[in-house]
Amino acid sequence: MSLPIRDELRNVSPYGAPQLDVPVKLNTNENPYSPPAALVEAIAKNVAAIGASLNRYPDRDAVELRAGLAEYIIRESRTTISHEQVWAANGSNEIMLQILQAFGGPGRKALTFSPTYSMYAEYARDTNTEFVAVARRDDFSVDADLIVSAMTIHRPNVIFLASPNNPTGTAMDLEVLDVVLKAAPNTIVVVDEAYAEFRRKGVESAVTRVSRHPNLVVTRTMSKAFAMAGVRLGYLVSSVEMVNALQLVRLPYHLSTVTQVVANTALNFADDLQKDLEQIRTARDEFVNWSAQNGFDTTQSDANFVLLGQFSDRHAAWQALVDRGVLVREVGPDHWLRITIGTASEMEILKKALLEVKGL
Ligand SMILES: Cc1ncc(COP(=O)(O)O)c(C=O)c1O
Repeated sequence: MSLPIRDELRNVSPYGAPQLDVPVKLNTNENPYSPPAALVEAIAKNVAAIGASLNRYPDRDAVELRAGLAEYIIRESRTTISHEQVWAANGSNEIMLQILQAFGGPGRKALTFSPTYSMYAEYARDTNTEFVAVARRDDFSVDADLIVSAMTIHRPNVIFLASPNNPTGTAMDLEVLDVVLKAAPNTIVVVDEAYAEFRRKGVESAVTRVSRHPNLVVTRTMSKAFAMAGVRLGYLVSSVEMVNALQLVRLPYHLSTVTQVVANTALNFADDLQKDLEQIRTARDEFVNWSAQNGFDTTQSDANFVLLGQFSDRHAAWQALVDRGVLVREVGPDHWLRITIGTASEMEILKKALLEVKGL
């Protein structure tokens, strides 16, 4: 007997990339470097220190962690914010779901620009929010004309703009954001900056705009740059009003004490992680050049991944790479594959495999 599940969930597969056991995993945009040994040690010590108090619920408002995140953002993006403008949850996924729980719902609409992160459609489905995806320009960018005209036609309550965008790596010019914010004072504008720390020099973060626009939400995560995908810690920088609104829909004690302590410990190592980030950025730029020299198309990327093409049969190319021990992601526009930047040795294996599958 089938269960009386909601119609929109019938015959639907759960989100997720295949988790195959191959030597080179370049499919989920993780940081390829393990956390440094000193951080692992500090985590063990700090978690042990709160062990005896785990019979108590966590700090519901995660005040210490939010203060640490605010300090990090102030340093990282050279802007001024307070911890009351920061909200944290189990991954930026949970943050964005909370945004639609508070600002979406029946009779309301979310807008995005595709190809983009496929979870936006799922947050919308799960909150009964109507969802519209308008195509990006041919080079995968978005500009003010495109966004403002889509807003005029569709009148969304919430807009999701990923910058750098997944799966294309494209960053949005902040002049575009300024025009959108001016045109949409009553729309919640979410700039998803999951990959912000990988941006190239001169690319500014949207967190520099939050203090002027209470409807602007910038989401960030510790899953990528902080090498903490296993911790599940995402956060937003926005207005105090936005944080108050999300506190209405969050589950009680949603962020475990262990998560809060581990995330806070990792924040103390932000400077130590810079070396790995620099290596990833350099490897990305080198890979983009290598791809062009070897007859592949790529996008200019401000993230820790690159969209690479073009294959006449991308599934065959994906499978041929798996057969060579390299797992990449079959996502985004036809004929392209998304490849996460790995360690130097992983990139060597990848390049060799790519040359072998090139004609597919
Ligand atoms: C664009 C984008 N936003 C958000 C996320 C979710 O990240 P988190 O691990 O913080 O939930 C991802 C994960 O891959 C992503 O690509």
